[in-house]
Amino acid sequence: MEVSKIAVIGAGTMGHGIAEICAISGFEVSLNDVAENILNSAIEKIKWSLEKLYEKKQIKEEPSQVLARIKTSTSLDEVLKDADFMIEAAIEDLNVKRDIFKKADMLAPSQAILASNTSSLPITEIAESTQRKSKVIGTHFFNPPVLMKLVEIVRGKYTDDATLNVSIQLCKKLEKEIVVVNKDIPGFVVNRILARVVDTACMLVYNGVADVEDVDAVLRYRLNFPMGVFEVADYSGLDVFYFIHGIMTSRGFKARLCPILEEKFKNKEYGVKTGKGFYTYPGPGKYQKPQLEKERATKLDPSIILAHAINEAAYLLREGIATKSDIDKAVMLGLGYPKGIFRFADEFGIDRVVAALEKLSEITGEEIEIDPLLSKMVKENKLGVKTNEGFYRY
Ligand code: 3HC
Repeated sequence: MEVSKIAVIGAGTMGHGIAEICAISGFEVSLNDVAENILNSAIEKIKWSLEKLYEKKQIKEEPSQVLARIKTSTSLDEVLKDADFMIEAAIEDLNVKRDIFKKADMLAPSQAILASNTSSLPITEIAESTQRKSKVIGTHFFNPPVLMKLVEIVRGKYTDDATLNVSIQLCKKLEKEIVVVNKDIPGFVVNRILARVVDTACMLVYNGVADVEDVDAVLRYRLNFPMGVFEVADYSGLDVFYFIHGIMTSRGFKARLCPILEEKFKNKEYGVKTGKGFYTYPGPGKYQKPQLEKERATKLDPSIILAHAINEAAYLLREGIATKSDIDKAVMLGLGYPKGIFRFADEFGIDRVVAALEKLSEITGEEIEIDPLLSKMVKENKLGVKTNEGFYRY
Protein backbone atom coordinates (compact mmCIF):
# COMPACT_ATOMS: atom_id res chain seq x y z
CA MET A 1 0.00 0.00 0.00
CA GLU A 2 1.29 3.45 -0.95
CA VAL A 3 0.87 6.06 1.80
CA SER A 4 0.32 9.64 0.69
CA LYS A 5 -2.09 11.13 3.23
CA ILE A 6 -1.39 11.00 6.94
CA ALA A 7 -3.77 12.00 9.73
CA VAL A 8 -2.17 13.01 13.02
CA ILE A 9 -4.53 12.97 15.99
CA GLY A 10 -3.36 15.17 18.88
CA ALA A 11 -1.39 18.37 18.31
CA GLY A 12 0.59 18.55 21.56
CA THR A 13 4.33 18.15 22.10
CA MET A 14 4.59 14.95 20.09
CA GLY A 15 1.69 15.36 17.65
CA HIS A 16 2.86 18.67 16.22
CA GLY A 17 6.40 17.34 15.77
CA ILE A 18 5.15 14.18 14.05
CA ALA A 19 2.95 16.26 11.71
CA GLU A 20 5.99 18.42 10.93
CA ILE A 21 8.29 15.54 9.94
CA CYS A 22 5.55 13.98 7.82
CA ALA A 23 5.10 17.27 5.94
CA ILE A 24 8.88 17.73 5.57
CA SER A 25 9.01 14.30 3.91
CA GLY A 26 6.38 15.34 1.37
CA PHE A 27 3.22 13.77 2.80
CA GLU A 28 -0.13 15.53 2.89
CA VAL A 29 -0.93 15.89 6.59
CA SER A 30 -4.16 16.58 8.40
CA LEU A 31 -3.71 17.49 12.03
CA ASN A 32 -6.51 17.17 14.55
CA ASP A 33 -7.12 18.23 18.12
CA VAL A 34 -10.12 19.11 20.24
CA ALA A 35 -9.77 22.91 20.09
CA GLU A 36 -8.76 25.55 17.54
CA ASN A 37 -6.36 27.27 19.94
CA ILE A 38 -4.36 24.04 20.39
CA LEU A 39 -4.12 23.67 16.62
CA ASN A 40 -3.05 27.31 16.18
CA SER A 41 -0.36 26.92 18.81
CA ALA A 42 0.84 23.72 17.11
CA ILE A 43 1.16 25.51 13.77
CA GLU A 44 3.13 28.33 15.43
CA LYS A 45 5.55 25.77 16.91
CA ILE A 46 5.91 23.97 13.58
CA LYS A 47 6.60 27.29 11.87
CA TRP A 48 9.29 28.17 14.42
CA SER A 49 10.91 24.77 14.01
CA LEU A 50 10.79 24.84 10.18
CA GLU A 51 12.39 28.28 10.15
CA LYS A 52 15.21 27.00 12.38
CA LEU A 53 15.76 23.99 10.13
CA TYR A 54 15.66 26.14 6.99
CA GLU A 55 18.17 28.65 8.43
CA LYS A 56 20.53 25.75 9.10
CA LYS A 57 19.91 24.29 5.61
CA GLN A 58 18.55 21.12 7.16
CA ILE A 59 15.49 21.36 4.91
CA LYS A 60 15.54 22.44 1.29
CA GLU A 61 12.00 23.70 0.87
CA GLU A 62 10.90 27.03 2.28
CA PRO A 63 8.88 26.73 5.52
CA SER A 64 5.75 28.06 3.79
CA GLN A 65 5.90 25.25 1.20
CA VAL A 66 6.12 22.59 3.92
CA LEU A 67 3.38 24.28 5.96
CA ALA A 68 1.10 24.28 2.91
CA ARG A 69 0.96 20.47 3.19
CA ILE A 70 -0.48 20.63 6.74
CA LYS A 71 -4.22 21.14 7.15
CA THR A 72 -5.84 21.38 10.56
CA SER A 73 -9.32 20.52 11.75
CA THR A 74 -11.14 19.84 15.00
CA SER A 75 -13.33 17.35 13.12
CA LEU A 76 -12.11 13.74 13.24
CA ASP A 77 -14.22 12.94 10.20
CA GLU A 78 -12.56 15.70 8.19
CA VAL A 79 -8.99 14.52 8.92
CA LEU A 80 -9.63 10.79 8.62
CA LYS A 81 -11.99 10.45 5.67
CA ASP A 82 -9.25 10.09 3.05
CA ALA A 83 -6.26 9.16 5.24
CA ASP A 84 -4.00 6.23 4.34
CA PHE A 85 -2.26 6.18 7.70
CA MET A 86 -3.23 7.58 11.08
CA ILE A 87 -0.77 8.40 13.84
CA GLU A 88 -2.51 9.01 17.12
CA ALA A 89 -0.61 11.14 19.66
CA ALA A 90 -3.30 12.02 22.21
CA ILE A 91 -2.85 11.81 25.98
CA GLU A 92 -1.66 8.58 27.63
CA ASP A 93 -5.08 7.34 28.65
CA LEU A 94 -6.29 3.97 27.43
CA ASN A 95 -9.96 4.97 27.35
CA VAL A 96 -9.23 8.12 25.35
CA LYS A 97 -7.12 6.16 22.88
CA ARG A 98 -9.63 3.34 22.55
CA ASP A 99 -12.35 5.90 21.86
CA ILE A 100 -10.25 7.59 19.15
CA PHE A 101 -9.45 4.24 17.53
CA LYS A 102 -13.08 3.16 17.63
CA LYS A 103 -14.11 6.35 15.85
CA ALA A 104 -11.17 6.21 13.46
CA ASP A 105 -12.15 2.67 12.52
CA MET A 106 -15.55 3.97 11.42
CA LEU A 107 -14.27 7.13 9.71
CA ALA A 108 -11.06 6.14 7.92
CA PRO A 109 -10.97 4.18 4.64
CA SER A 110 -11.06 0.43 5.30
CA GLN A 111 -7.47 -0.13 4.10
CA ALA A 112 -5.98 2.63 6.31
CA ILE A 113 -3.47 1.67 8.99
CA LEU A 114 -4.11 3.02 12.49
CA ALA A 115 -0.95 3.64 14.52
CA SER A 116 -0.51 4.92 18.05
CA ASN A 117 2.41 6.91 19.41
CA THR A 118 1.71 5.50 22.86
CA SER A 119 4.81 4.96 24.97
CA SER A 120 3.31 2.70 27.58
CA LEU A 121 -0.17 1.46 26.71
CA PRO A 122 -0.89 -1.96 25.19
CA ILE A 123 -1.29 -1.85 21.40
CA THR A 124 -3.31 -5.07 21.64
CA GLU A 125 -5.99 -3.50 23.85
CA ILE A 126 -6.12 -0.38 21.68
CA ALA A 127 -6.59 -2.62 18.62
CA GLU A 128 -9.47 -4.46 20.29
CA SER A 129 -11.60 -1.31 20.10
CA THR A 130 -11.59 -1.63 16.29
CA GLN A 131 -12.82 -4.07 13.64
CA ARG A 132 -9.38 -3.94 11.96
CA LYS A 133 -7.14 -5.30 14.69
CA SER A 134 -4.52 -6.53 12.20
CA LYS A 135 -4.06 -2.96 10.92
CA VAL A 136 -3.25 -1.46 14.33
CA ILE A 137 0.37 -0.90 15.34
CA GLY A 138 2.59 1.20 17.63
CA THR A 139 4.89 3.86 16.19
CA HIS A 140 6.62 5.47 19.15
CA PHE A 141 8.53 8.67 18.31
CA PHE A 142 10.82 10.61 20.66
CA ASN A 143 10.84 14.22 21.71
CA PRO A 144 11.55 16.32 19.71
CA PRO A 145 10.47 14.11 16.78
CA VAL A 146 12.18 16.39 14.30
CA LEU A 147 15.62 15.83 15.90
CA MET A 148 15.42 12.34 17.43
CA LYS A 149 16.15 9.66 14.83
CA LEU A 150 14.39 6.70 16.45
CA VAL A 151 10.97 5.15 16.08
CA GLU A 152 10.07 2.07 18.13
CA ILE A 153 7.68 -0.01 16.06
CA VAL A 154 5.53 -2.15 18.29
CA ARG A 155 3.60 -5.18 17.13
CA GLY A 156 0.42 -5.92 19.01
CA LYS A 157 -0.95 -9.46 19.24
CA TYR A 158 -2.98 -9.02 16.04
CA THR A 159 -0.70 -6.79 13.90
CA ASP A 160 -0.07 -8.48 10.54
CA ASP A 161 3.12 -8.47 8.46
CA ALA A 162 1.68 -6.14 5.80
CA THR A 163 0.91 -3.50 8.45
CA LEU A 164 4.38 -3.90 9.91
CA ASN A 165 6.03 -3.55 6.51
CA VAL A 166 4.03 -0.46 5.47
CA SER A 167 4.84 1.14 8.85
CA ILE A 168 8.55 0.37 8.50
CA GLN A 169 8.61 1.77 4.95
CA LEU A 170 6.78 4.91 6.09
CA CYS A 171 9.21 5.53 8.98
CA LYS A 172 12.11 5.08 6.57
CA LYS A 173 10.58 7.73 4.30
CA LEU A 174 10.45 9.96 7.37
CA GLU A 175 14.22 9.32 7.58
CA LYS A 176 13.92 7.50 10.87
CA GLU A 177 15.84 4.53 12.18
CA ILE A 178 13.69 1.70 13.42
CA VAL A 179 13.77 -0.72 16.30
CA VAL A 180 11.10 -3.41 16.19
CA VAL A 181 9.84 -4.31 19.66
CA ASN A 182 8.79 -7.95 19.61
CA LYS A 183 6.56 -7.95 22.68
CA ASP A 184 3.88 -5.46 23.64
CA ILE A 185 5.34 -4.82 27.12
CA PRO A 186 4.77 -1.62 29.15
CA GLY A 187 7.29 1.08 28.22
CA PHE A 188 8.67 -1.00 25.31
CA VAL A 189 12.47 -0.60 25.30
CA VAL A 190 13.43 3.05 25.66
CA ASN A 191 10.93 4.18 28.28
CA ARG A 192 11.72 1.19 30.50
CA ILE A 193 15.39 2.14 30.46
CA LEU A 194 14.65 5.85 30.83
CA ALA A 195 12.25 5.17 33.74
CA ARG A 196 15.06 3.40 35.61
CA VAL A 197 17.41 6.35 35.12
CA VAL A 198 14.73 8.88 36.16
CA ASP A 199 13.73 6.83 39.22
CA THR A 200 17.33 6.27 40.33
CA ALA A 201 18.25 9.91 39.89
CA CYS A 202 15.16 11.11 41.70
CA MET A 203 15.62 8.64 44.59
CA LEU A 204 19.27 9.68 44.98
CA VAL A 205 18.08 13.28 45.37
CA TYR A 206 15.17 12.29 47.61
CA ASN A 207 17.53 10.38 49.92
CA GLY A 208 19.92 13.32 50.12
CA VAL A 209 22.80 11.57 48.30
CA ALA A 210 23.06 14.26 45.62
CA ASP A 211 21.40 17.38 44.23
CA VAL A 212 19.56 17.54 40.91
CA GLU A 213 22.48 19.47 39.41
CA ASP A 214 25.05 16.92 40.67
CA VAL A 215 23.29 14.07 38.87
CA ASP A 216 22.80 16.02 35.65
CA ALA A 217 26.40 17.29 35.69
CA VAL A 218 27.69 13.68 35.89
CA LEU A 219 25.53 12.69 32.94
CA ARG A 220 26.36 15.74 30.88
CA TYR A 221 30.08 16.14 31.57
CA ARG A 222 31.33 12.67 32.51
CA LEU A 223 29.14 10.46 30.37
CA ASN A 224 28.60 13.02 27.57
CA PHE A 225 24.82 12.77 27.53
CA PRO A 226 23.20 15.60 25.52
CA MET A 227 20.97 16.40 28.49
CA GLY A 228 20.94 15.40 32.14
CA VAL A 229 18.05 13.17 33.16
CA PHE A 230 16.21 15.91 35.07
CA GLU A 231 16.62 18.14 32.02
CA VAL A 232 15.01 15.46 29.84
CA ALA A 233 12.18 15.00 32.32
CA ASP A 234 11.49 18.76 32.38
CA TYR A 235 11.86 18.95 28.59
CA SER A 236 9.31 16.22 27.85
CA GLY A 237 6.99 17.08 30.74
CA LEU A 238 6.86 15.75 34.29
CA ASP A 239 3.12 15.16 33.80
CA VAL A 240 3.98 12.83 30.90
CA PHE A 241 6.50 10.95 33.06
CA TYR A 242 3.99 10.77 35.93
CA PHE A 243 1.29 9.25 33.71
CA ILE A 244 3.68 6.85 31.99
CA HIS A 245 4.99 5.69 35.36
CA GLY A 246 1.47 5.05 36.64
CA ILE A 247 0.51 3.08 33.54
CA MET A 248 3.71 1.05 33.49
CA THR A 249 3.50 0.09 37.17
CA SER A 250 -0.20 -0.77 36.87
CA ARG A 251 0.82 -3.17 34.09
CA GLY A 252 3.45 -4.95 36.17
CA PHE A 253 6.59 -2.80 35.89
CA LYS A 254 8.05 -2.95 39.41
CA ALA A 255 8.93 0.58 40.49
CA ARG A 256 8.04 3.08 43.16
CA LEU A 257 7.10 6.58 42.09
CA CYS A 258 9.70 8.96 43.45
CA PRO A 259 8.00 11.27 46.02
CA ILE A 260 9.64 14.37 44.49
CA LEU A 261 8.09 13.63 41.11
CA GLU A 262 4.73 13.08 42.76
CA GLU A 263 4.98 16.39 44.61
CA LYS A 264 5.96 18.27 41.47
CA PHE A 265 3.03 16.73 39.62
CA LYS A 266 0.62 17.75 42.39
CA ASN A 267 2.00 21.32 42.31
CA LYS A 268 1.57 21.39 38.52
CA GLU A 269 5.31 21.96 38.10
CA TYR A 270 5.49 20.06 34.82
CA GLY A 271 8.82 21.40 33.55
CA VAL A 272 9.40 23.58 30.49
CA LYS A 273 5.68 23.76 29.58
CA THR A 274 4.76 25.43 32.90
CA GLY A 275 8.05 27.30 33.34
CA LYS A 276 9.13 25.25 36.38
CA GLY A 277 9.96 21.64 37.07
CA PHE A 278 13.27 20.44 38.47
CA TYR A 279 14.71 23.64 36.97
CA THR A 280 13.19 27.08 36.46
CA TYR A 281 12.76 28.48 32.92
CA PRO A 282 12.26 32.05 31.62
CA GLY A 283 8.50 31.40 31.23
CA PRO A 284 5.93 28.73 30.36
CA GLY A 285 7.00 26.97 27.16
CA LYS A 286 10.30 28.87 27.03
CA TYR A 287 13.15 26.39 27.00
CA GLN A 288 16.58 27.46 28.11
CA LYS A 289 19.33 24.93 28.75
CA PRO A 290 20.01 24.80 32.52
CA GLN A 291 23.44 26.04 33.59
CA LEU A 292 25.48 23.34 35.32
CA GLU A 293 28.85 23.83 36.99
CA LYS A 294 31.44 21.32 35.82
CA GLU A 295 32.77 20.80 39.38
CA ARG A 296 29.50 19.16 40.37
CA ALA A 297 30.28 16.26 38.05
CA THR A 298 32.72 14.73 40.54
CA LYS A 299 30.23 14.22 43.34
CA LEU A 300 28.75 10.89 42.24
CA ASP A 301 29.94 7.62 40.74
CA PRO A 302 28.32 7.45 37.26
CA SER A 303 27.73 3.69 37.58
CA ILE A 304 25.15 4.18 40.34
CA ILE A 305 23.01 6.40 38.08
CA LEU A 306 22.96 3.87 35.24
CA ALA A 307 23.07 0.57 37.16
CA HIS A 308 19.31 0.04 37.32
CA ALA A 309 18.94 0.94 33.65
CA ILE A 310 21.64 -1.62 32.80
CA ASN A 311 19.78 -4.21 34.89
CA GLU A 312 16.62 -3.39 32.91
CA ALA A 313 18.46 -3.66 29.59
CA ALA A 314 19.78 -7.08 30.67
CA TYR A 315 16.18 -8.16 31.33
CA LEU A 316 15.03 -6.92 27.89
CA LEU A 317 17.86 -8.83 26.22
CA ARG A 318 17.38 -12.04 28.22
CA GLU A 319 13.63 -12.02 27.53
CA GLY A 320 14.16 -11.56 23.77
CA ILE A 321 12.22 -8.30 23.70
CA ALA A 322 14.84 -6.71 21.47
CA THR A 323 18.34 -7.61 20.29
CA LYS A 324 21.50 -6.32 21.94
CA SER A 325 22.31 -4.06 19.02
CA ASP A 326 18.73 -2.76 18.84
CA ILE A 327 18.70 -1.92 22.56
CA ASP A 328 21.96 -0.02 22.18
CA LYS A 329 20.69 1.67 19.02
CA ALA A 330 17.45 2.60 20.81
CA VAL A 331 19.14 4.52 23.63
CA MET A 332 21.55 6.23 21.26
CA LEU A 333 18.92 7.38 18.79
CA GLY A 334 15.93 7.75 21.13
CA LEU A 335 17.73 9.40 24.05
CA GLY A 336 20.89 10.73 22.39
CA TYR A 337 23.26 8.65 24.56
CA PRO A 338 26.77 8.80 23.12
CA LYS A 339 27.07 5.01 23.28
CA GLY A 340 24.87 2.01 23.98
CA ILE A 341 23.78 1.06 27.49
CA PHE A 342 25.65 -2.29 27.19
CA ARG A 343 28.83 -0.42 26.21
CA PHE A 344 28.51 1.66 29.38
CA ALA A 345 28.00 -1.56 31.36
CA ASP A 346 31.15 -3.12 29.88
CA GLU A 347 33.16 0.00 30.60
CA PHE A 348 31.99 0.29 34.21
CA GLY A 349 32.50 -3.45 34.77
CA ILE A 350 29.58 -5.82 35.41
CA ASP A 351 30.79 -6.49 38.98
CA ARG A 352 30.74 -2.74 39.64
CA VAL A 353 27.23 -2.50 38.21
CA VAL A 354 26.05 -5.28 40.54
CA ALA A 355 27.74 -3.57 43.51
CA ALA A 356 26.06 -0.29 42.52
CA LEU A 357 22.67 -2.03 42.45
CA GLU A 358 23.28 -3.36 45.96
CA LYS A 359 24.28 0.10 47.14
CA LEU A 360 21.19 1.62 45.53
CA SER A 361 18.98 -0.90 47.36
CA GLU A 362 20.65 0.10 50.61
CA ILE A 363 20.11 3.82 49.95
CA THR A 364 16.47 3.56 48.93
CA GLY A 365 15.51 0.67 51.22
CA GLU A 366 13.94 -1.07 48.24
CA GLU A 367 15.07 -4.42 47.00
CA ILE A 368 16.24 -4.58 43.40
CA GLU A 369 16.19 -8.00 41.76
CA ILE A 370 19.54 -8.36 40.07
CA ASP A 371 18.91 -9.77 36.63
CA PRO A 372 20.14 -13.38 36.30
CA LEU A 373 22.09 -12.40 33.19
CA LEU A 374 24.25 -9.98 35.19
CA SER A 375 24.79 -12.53 37.98
CA LYS A 376 25.80 -15.15 35.40
CA MET A 377 28.25 -12.77 33.74
CA VAL A 378 29.91 -12.05 37.10
CA LYS A 379 30.14 -15.77 37.86
CA GLU A 380 31.73 -16.45 34.46
CA ASN A 381 34.12 -13.51 34.90
CA LYS A 382 32.65 -11.76 31.84
CA LEU A 383 33.06 -8.39 33.49
CA GLY A 384 33.40 -6.21 30.40
CA VAL A 385 36.37 -4.35 28.98
CA LYS A 386 38.70 -5.32 31.86
CA THR A 387 38.32 -9.06 31.19
CA ASN A 388 38.04 -8.63 27.41
CA GLU A 389 34.48 -9.89 27.40
CA GLY A 390 31.21 -8.61 28.77
CA PHE A 391 28.14 -7.90 26.65
CA TYR A 392 30.64 -7.47 23.81
CA ARG A 393 34.10 -8.95 23.13
CA TYR A 394 37.18 -6.70 23.26
N1 3HC B 1 13.03 22.04 15.71
C1 3HC B 1 14.10 22.66 15.16
N2 3HC B 1 15.19 23.00 15.88
C2 3HC B 1 15.17 22.70 17.19
C3 3HC B 1 14.10 22.06 17.83
C4 3HC B 1 13.00 21.71 17.02
N3 3HC B 1 11.91 21.10 17.52
N4 3HC B 1 14.40 21.89 19.14
C5 3HC B 1 15.61 22.42 19.32
N5 3HC B 1 16.08 22.92 18.15
C6 3HC B 1 17.31 23.63 17.89
C7 3HC B 1 17.73 24.49 19.06
O1 3HC B 1 17.01 25.68 19.07
C8 3HC B 1 19.20 24.69 18.73
O2 3HC B 1 19.32 25.71 17.77
P1 3HC B 1 20.55 26.78 17.83
O3 3HC B 1 21.77 25.96 17.54
O4 3HC B 1 20.20 27.74 16.76
O5 3HC B 1 20.51 27.36 19.20
C9 3HC B 1 19.58 23.37 18.09
O6 3HC B 1 18.36 22.69 17.74
C10 3HC B 1 20.36 22.44 18.96
O7 3HC B 1 19.82 22.47 20.23
P2 3HC B 1 20.74 22.39 21.49
O8 3HC B 1 21.74 23.44 21.50
O9 3HC B 1 19.87 22.23 22.68
O10 3HC B 1 21.61 21.15 21.12
P3 3HC B 1 21.66 19.67 21.38
O11 3HC B 1 22.87 19.26 20.67
O12 3HC B 1 21.53 19.38 22.83
O13 3HC B 1 20.45 18.95 20.62
C11 3HC B 1 18.65 17.54 21.33
C12 3HC B 1 19.14 18.95 21.08
C13 3HC B 1 18.70 16.72 20.04
C14 3HC B 1 17.21 17.63 21.80
C15 3HC B 1 19.58 16.83 22.37
O14 3HC B 1 19.69 17.65 23.50
C16 3HC B 1 19.09 15.49 22.82
O15 3HC B 1 19.27 14.48 22.14
N6 3HC B 1 18.48 15.44 24.02
C17 3HC B 1 17.89 14.23 24.56
C18 3HC B 1 16.41 14.29 24.29
C19 3HC B 1 15.71 13.05 24.74
O16 3HC B 1 16.18 12.30 25.58
N7 3HC B 1 14.51 12.81 24.14
C20 3HC B 1 13.70 11.69 24.51
C21 3HC B 1 12.75 12.06 25.60
S1 3HC B 1 11.77 10.70 26.14
C22 3HC B 1 10.58 10.54 24.99
O17 3HC B 1 10.43 11.31 24.08
C23 3HC B 1 9.68 9.35 25.12
C24 3HC B 1 8.30 9.79 25.49
O18 3HC B 1 7.47 8.64 25.40
C25 3HC B 1 8.25 10.39 26.86
